Amino acid sequence: PSEHLRISVIGAGYLGTAHAVGMAQLGHDVIAMDIEKEKIARLSACELPFFEPGLGELLRKSVEAGRLRFTTEYDDVAEADVHFVCVGTPQLPGSFNADLRWVETAFTELARRVAGPAIIVGKSTVPVGTARRMADVVRHHTGGSRVEVAWNPEFLREGHAVQDTLQPDRLIFGVESQWAEQLLRAVYQPIIEDGCPLVVTDYATAELVKVSANAFLAMKISFINSVAQICEATGAAVLPLAEALGYDDRIGRRFLGPGLGFGGGCLPKDVRALYACATELGLDEVATFIRQIDAINLSRRDRALTLGRDLLGGTYEGKRVCVLGAAFKPNTDDVRDSPALAVAVAAHREGARVAMHDPVAMNSAWLVHPEIEYAETIVTAAREADLVMLLTDWTEFQDMDPALLSNVVRSRNVLDGRNALRPERWRAAGWTYRA
Ligand code: UDX
Repeated sequence: PSEHLRISVIGAGYLGTAHAVGMAQLGHDVIAMDIEKEKIARLSACELPFFEPGLGELLRKSVEAGRLRFTTEYDDVAEADVHFVCVGTPQLPGSFNADLRWVETAFTELARRVAGPAIIVGKSTVPVGTARRMADVVRHHTGGSRVEVAWNPEFLREGHAVQDTLQPDRLIFGVESQWAEQLLRAVYQPIIEDGCPLVVTDYATAELVKVSANAFLAMKISFINSVAQICEATGAAVLPLAEALGYDDRIGRRFLGPGLGFGGGCLPKDVRALYACATELGLDEVATFIRQIDAINLSRRDRALTLGRDLLGGTYEGKRVCVLGAAFKPNTDDVRDSPALAVAVAAHREGARVAMHDPVAMNSAWLVHPEIEYAETIVTAAREADLVMLLTDWTEFQDMDPALLSNVVRSRNVLDGRNALRPERWRAAGWTYRA
C-alpha cells in the first residue's frame, strides 16, 4: 500500500493543476497554492481555467474525495512533507533567457515557512544551475532543520496531461541525498511499481534533461522541415519519405510531421534557453547548431505565407482568407507562440481580411489579436474566401468535406499547412491544393 503524504503544489497553472490532480489521484493529501485569487476560486469550484481533455473530471473527483484543496496563502502549505514548485518560467522579453522571478519567490517564501523535515521539489523548466542556487536560498533560511531541494522535471504535453502525469514515460530525480530520493520514491510509488523507468541523478543533469528533450523534439521537426524544402525543390514527396525514415527505430516516426512547425509555451522557449546557455558557455558551434532549429522553424511561417500569396495571385491585399486553427496544436486552447496565429496575423498585416475559426482557442486568440475576425463555424469562416488555410491539425478540419465549402468560397484555393488533408479529395472537388 502506498504511503499517503502531505503534498503542496505551488503555482496552479497548467503544469501545477495537472500535477496536483495527479498527486491526489495517487492517494496523497494535496493542497495547491496560487497567488491569483480568481484562478483559485474557479479551481475550488472544480472549474478548470483552461482546456484539457479529461482533467476537469479528475479535478472534481479529487476535490470531492477530500484529497485536493486550494489556497492563495503560503502559510496554508507550510505543513506539507513534499512541496512541488510548478510556477512559470516564461522567456524574458527581449532576451532568450528564462524569467526566474517566480521560481525564486516560491523557493524563498517556502523556505521562510517550512520547518521540515520536508523537501522542496522544483518542477519548473529552468536553466542549469538554478537548483543549486535554490538549495543555497533554502539553506540560508532554514538553518539546521532538514529541508532539502530536489529537481524533478515534468514532460507533460498539452492535450495529454492526464496520461502524461499518471503514466509518464520516465521519472527523473535530481537529488543530493538518499533521504530525498526515498521521499520522492514514496510520492511516486504506484507509478514506479507500474514499471515506469526512473533515473536518479544530480541537479544539473535533471535540469538539462528537460531542455534537451524538448530541443531534440524540436530538432526532429526542423530536420523534417528542412528535408521538406529539399523535397519541394526536387519533386520528391516528404510524407512517404518521413514514413520510410520512421521505420528505422533509431529514428522513429513521431515528430517527423512536416508543415508549419512547432509552437507553444515550451519547445520554442526551451530551444532558445539552450541556445542562450551554449552561448554563455562560449560553445559557439553548439550555439549555432541549436539556433538553426529555431530559425528553420520560423522560416516555415514565411514559407506558408508565400504559398498563400502565390495561390492568391501575388498579393493578400483586399483578399478574404479563411484560417482554420488558432491553437499551436490540436486539443488545446493555448495560442502561445502559435504558428497558426502568426501566419493569420501576417496575412492580415499584408492587407487580407482574415476570418479565423478554431474549435476551442478562439477566445484566447481574440485576447491577443482582436484585429482578426473570428467565426463560429468553419462554413462562416469560409464565406466568400479567396483562400482557405488549414494551420492547426484539429481532426474536425481533417475530416472536413470539401463539397461543404465549395459553394461557400469565392475561389477554391486551399493551403494545407499541416499536411493534414487528403489532396485527392480536394482536387476531385475542384480545388487547387497546396501543402
Ligand atoms: C512539449 C513536449 O512534447 C512535452 O514533453 C514538454 O513537457 C512540453 O513541451 P507541448 O508543448 O504540449 O509539449 O507540445 P507537443 O505536443 O510537443 O507539440 C509541439 C509543437 O510541435 C506543436 O506546435 C506541434 O504542432 C508541432 N509538431 C509536432 C510538428 O510540427 N510536427 C510533428 O511531427 C509534431
